[in-house]
Amino acid sequence: MRPPSTMRPPRVEIPGDVWYGGQLSPFLAGLALAHGPIFTFVPEAGPHTHQEVVYLVGPEANRFVLLTHREHFSHDLGWTPVIGDTLGRGLLNMDPPEHTRHRALMNPAFTAAFMDRYLPLMQRVIAERTRHWLTSDSVDLLSEAREITFDVAAAALVGFDTGAQVDWLRERFYALLHLPDTEEDEWEIIVQRQLQIRDELQRMLLALIDARRRAAPSEQPGDVLGMLVRARDEQGQPLTDEQLLAHVNILLVAGHETTTTLGAWLLYLLATHAEYGARVDQELATRLGGPEVPLTSETVRSLPLLASAVREAGRLQSPVQLLPRGVVSPFDFDGYSVSAGTPVFLAIAAGHRLPTVFAEPDRFDPDRFLPPREEDKRHPYALATFGGGPRICLGINFAHVEAMALAAHVRRALRLEPFPDVAIEQIGGIVQTLPHGIRVRVRPLA
Ligand code: HEM
Repeated sequence: MRPPSTMRPPRVEIPGDVWYGGQLSPFLAGLALAHGPIFTFVPEAGPHTHQEVVYLVGPEANRFVLLTHREHFSHDLGWTPVIGDTLGRGLLNMDPPEHTRHRALMNPAFTAAFMDRYLPLMQRVIAERTRHWLTSDSVDLLSEAREITFDVAAAALVGFDTGAQVDWLRERFYALLHLPDTEEDEWEIIVQRQLQIRDELQRMLLALIDARRRAAPSEQPGDVLGMLVRARDEQGQPLTDEQLLAHVNILLVAGHETTTTLGAWLLYLLATHAEYGARVDQELATRLGGPEVPLTSETVRSLPLLASAVREAGRLQSPVQLLPRGVVSPFDFDGYSVSAGTPVFLAIAAGHRLPTVFAEPDRFDPDRFLPPREEDKRHPYALATFGGGPRICLGINFAHVEAMALAAHVRRALRLEPFPDVAIEQIGGIVQTLPHGIRVRVRPLA
């Protein structure tokens, strides 16, 4: 057996401007090519200011952290400092053994077979929310996708389908997640307001939980909250109110902005790559027909060109870029040792930009996932848009089907035209942010 290493990973510099303009992932990929898949950086801002942070990049690193050596890494120590603790402990920021029990309870609501239930509501929301696009000269795909994904999440998770109810929830959730810019002397007021919003949300969700606990089996709503209220673990124990609240909060946090970013990029990338876009349109016309023909769970599986575009948008523009972890026991990787207590970022989006794994990695090229190329299959864990291993994204099927439904509707209903020479401003981080959205022109189909 090889003795444990005492060597420290190489220290690198990440200049401030790299976090802007979509440069972060290609830059980190370049560092991995130059220094290997593990290196450290000492940030001057953020939650780990002046602390050595370990970055891991590439398929082997993904497999190590997500599967083979996952017991060294804590999600709680990684994610809770990022999302804060006002939302409680949901799946994303729990560790085993508690996580294992909760994940088993939640899996059934998110299996591929369950998507039958969500597809009709997704398509209803998408058709309603995109109807006005043609009356405007241009739309911001990001803010439009955000409204769509929130409506869908509110309907699927807690059964809200009237405009006023969803808007009430949306307003409070956005206020909780996006703190306004503020002067220091107003901070106390903002904190009070946030606590008040959290309490309002909590009261409303507790009333929904109570209604589901009391409802007769024949009157149970078919939403995710209802399933979680009824779920029992191996000892026959239900989830407590506090646990249910945290799960709903974290599902909204983990699923909403991520699906928004993927949906907006997908539409934009198809609009800017006319040749591939035309092949997708042909596939939709042949397999489905006009925009009035709904997708079903069968037809959604019969669209390989569109499905590859969804995967490629997720590779090139991964909504989640860095997976934060806390190290709970020392480990060796690639000849270097890392001690307990070190913050780690698994740079999944940078792994997607390695030319040693994906040919011309900065190019949108969905054919890379189709036979004969199938580039992702050459390296297990190369594509990690949704993480991997036992902690793979709970909503992977949900997000994939929603992105497919969005593009299938929009591509068959209207034409999107990018503004020439307008770059999409982008800020890198744990998740990517697009401060000015993605604006495109809207035209009728030719
Ligand atoms: C394009 C959309 C999405 C992307 C890119 C995405 C990405 C991810 C990633 C990378 C992880 C792994 C985190 C880690 O290992 O640290 C994750 C976990 C998770 N995601 Fe998603 N996600 C998306 C949509 C959704 C949706 C729609 C939901 C719920 C409805 C959801 C719920 C979750 C939950 C609960 C976890 C934690 C799972 C666990 O640790 O067991 N996500 N997601």
